[in-house]
Amino acid sequence: MDRRNFMKACGIGCAAMAKPGVMLARIPGESDAEFNARMTWWREARFGMFIHWGIYAQLGLGEWAMNDLKIPPARYQKLAPRFNPVDYNPADWVKLAQAAGMKYMVITSKHHDGFCMFKTKYTDFNIVDATPYKRDALAMLSKACADQGMKFGFYYSILDAHQSGDNSFRKMKDEGFDQYEVYLKNQLQELLSNYGPIGSIFFDGQWTPQWNSEKGKALEKHVRSFQPQVVMNDRVGRQYESGDYNTPEQFIPEKPPARDWETCMTINGSWGYNRLDHAWKSSTQLIRNLIGIVSKNGNFLLNVGSTRQGLVPQPEIDRLQEIGKWMDINGDAIHGAGPGPTPNPPWGCVTSKPGKIFLHVFEWPKGELALEGLSNVSGKALLLTASGKQELSTSVSGNGLIIKLPSQPVHPAASVIEIVKGS
Ligand code: GLC
Repeated sequence: MDRRNFMKACGIGCAAMAKPGVMLARIPGESDAEFNARMTWWREARFGMFIHWGIYAQLGLGEWAMNDLKIPPARYQKLAPRFNPVDYNPADWVKLAQAAGMKYMVITSKHHDGFCMFKTKYTDFNIVDATPYKRDALAMLSKACADQGMKFGFYYSILDAHQSGDNSFRKMKDEGFDQYEVYLKNQLQELLSNYGPIGSIFFDGQWTPQWNSEKGKALEKHVRSFQPQVVMNDRVGRQYESGDYNTPEQFIPEKPPARDWETCMTINGSWGYNRLDHAWKSSTQLIRNLIGIVSKNGNFLLNVGSTRQGLVPQPEIDRLQEIGKWMDINGDAIHGAGPGPTPNPPWGCVTSKPGKIFLHVFEWPKGELALEGLSNVSGKALLLTASGKQELSTSVSGNGLIIKLPSQPVHPAASVIEIVKGS
């Protein structure tokens, strides 16, 4: 079974979306108001940075290299003494994310290979004890985030090939799994005690056959006993049934899930740094993805795969900077915004926030934009531009508002017209 089919079989993909009527997990006893208060920052943020980084970056073949190349654990471990990411500068990463308009960062604390990017007393297979770098990459990033007002979160793989003593990323050995559960909980205690307030946790690797709903619930409770406010993903539970939000991976759901959700996506096709993968998405595609996700009430967690030296690859920097230029003009139509009052029209997408509707025009028409059938969209029309808001003249036809347009779009990915309601 190749990896894609394996992921399908594991239910990563469509099955990750809540079906209508599916029970929406919640902390037992938490009221709607408490839940909404806990979720507010995350819902308003809309855009975050995912970071896949570990000793696999040495090989430059993605984070599944150990499994895919069938590298025996004893050989894989030899990557650690050569891992020395001297160029890692977390303050720069935070700046890059902020300039792109991202409001939170989620870094791999431990991926399926079991290598820990943080100091842990439960294994030496960690960045402080096993590498010449000797510094805690997570502590450094969490500090940079705290210094620069960025929410900090981490990814944690339940599946752990190192603890299993195997190179399979599909299943762990049964033998020793009970002890491993203690290990896992101990590490989460460390992660939730030593790195300040944690915004969100992204669990993964819950497909190892030993994991089940009860274990997921118990882990969720364990996590919340240290940081009750944390926002947690669905993969803490075996069937994607737990946590606070769903995690469609590499796609935008046609119909949004019934509860909070976040699409995670790569900029090329790989999560971990992959020197052979040059299939970069365009910044236009990424900007439109972000808009499309917000118009469906979701979040966008966009991934970068750091190199062995601790650098974000240049093609990823370029795209994030392009997104940032768009966000500088149009961030108000994304942060704190949600779906518009109408379904998305053929020419683009609609988002809104109290008092404002944002028309994201992907296909710039000649002369005017006729909001046919969008009778509930009315008000003053302001074009968002780098030099401020430019009022556009409007008229009303039987079918809705007609907005006069300049001949050129503001931005090739999407030009945004803000409709100020009631004016
Ligand atoms: C999958 C992959 C993993 C990646 C994750 C991101 O579960 O196994 O490598 O970290 O997706 O969502």
